[in-house]
Amino acid sequence: MEKNLDRDEMRELIGEAVRGEAFRRATFAGATRGAPCEWVRVVVRPIDLRGTRHFQFAYQSAKKAVTKNFLDDEVEAPLDELIGYGFAGVHITAGAEEIDIRTSRKGRVHVGRHMLKEAANAPELEAHNRVKDVPLPEGKADALLEIMGIATPDGRVRPTMRAKFTQINEFLKQLQHVFDDAKLNDLGRDVSILDCGCGSSYLTLAAHHYLNNVLHVPSRILGVDVNEEVIRKSVERADKLGVANLFFECRRIGTVDVAADIVFALHACNTATDDAIAQAVRSEARLLLSVPCCHHDLNKVIRADGPTEVLRPVLRHGILLQRTADLITDAFRALALRIMGYRTDVVEFVATEHTPRNLMIRAVRVRDLAKPQAAEISEYIELKRFWRVTPYIEKVLGEAFQQLVKATAL
Ligand SMILES: C[S@@+](CC[C@H](N)C(=O)[O-])C[C@H]1O[C@@H](n2cnc3c(N)ncnc32)[C@H](O)[C@@H]1O
Repeated sequence: MEKNLDRDEMRELIGEAVRGEAFRRATFAGATRGAPCEWVRVVVRPIDLRGTRHFQFAYQSAKKAVTKNFLDDEVEAPLDELIGYGFAGVHITAGAEEIDIRTSRKGRVHVGRHMLKEAANAPELEAHNRVKDVPLPEGKADALLEIMGIATPDGRVRPTMRAKFTQINEFLKQLQHVFDDAKLNDLGRDVSILDCGCGSSYLTLAAHHYLNNVLHVPSRILGVDVNEEVIRKSVERADKLGVANLFFECRRIGTVDVAADIVFALHACNTATDDAIAQAVRSEARLLLSVPCCHHDLNKVIRADGPTEVLRPVLRHGILLQRTADLITDAFRALALRIMGYRTDVVEFVATEHTPRNLMIRAVRVRDLAKPQAAEISEYIELKRFWRVTPYIEKVLGEAFQQLVKATAL
């Protein structure tokens, strides 16, 4: 059922749905057109704390995440405040019903309501210790986690898969964190994602589920890998899940002709990370999330000589040389992305106990190349001069990048 509402009717609808017995979750996201607000997404859901129903408000901004719990009789004020921010999209799940409220730029409110097919499976109010605020919660039977080989049929994460499970959850949190910022919410079509070096497709399957079924963002994902065997297994898993818009191909990164909005590369080996970055830049992807691993390229060429002589005490030790090469490689990558129009951060996406390869290059496309960043190009040229290297990222980004650098160097 679809209809238009005025703003008071919208307030009433949200208030009733959230306070109702069947309420499961409400996601407020998209542009805000009301009171000033630092949040990019707020998720409200009921939780059971010591036997009493509470409402958990999970606020997310570009810089931080804040969670607050309210009792039934305390929820009115924070809910009113939240509605007052005027998020363009509000998605509510209440029992078997899905309610989608969209507010246009002109303030017109449109509501769509439909019943879920799997009504009978709508989850009951969950105990707080099971509703961990993570994209893929554990603790209950879950076909996806079972088929991925991460959890047992009764929903317990296998000890050997704990690290991968945590990596995937933290990776997806990063995706959620920058999703709106990358303007992926209102494309008016499916979001297209390329997972480079997808391996056994843990991330591919999890991201497909998270976007389509949890965030309700229609998305199609292609996982590519050079290893035929992992692709065969991934296809098998996708078939078992029986979901649409999930594809796998045995391909080398960089040879894939797909206009991706988002590019993932989780532990794509050595220069495969650079190939994934170049693929993202070429297809003008709005978002790149890349977690590099096993850097070998610069390790072979940097040395204490000339301007770097002063670093001899560092570079004479194999492990320090390796780590220095890792840092320089990732610094070149981040800088190249900035030059190519991406706002780029390097963050620790997960604690080192879950993987020592825990640096993520997170890049959101913010401008086109008509406005090159002269300061950043100069930094790049200086860094190259200091280390006397040409990083692989420069080679693989090709003409467009090399011309920019050359023009500034002259
Ligand atoms: C360490 S695994 C990571 C797999 C997966 N992303 C994950 O984190 O679970 C790296 C994968 O990248 C693949 N790979 C390495 N170089 C590649 C390339 N140039 N093109 C496509 N796949 C590549 C490997 O076959 C391997 O499956």
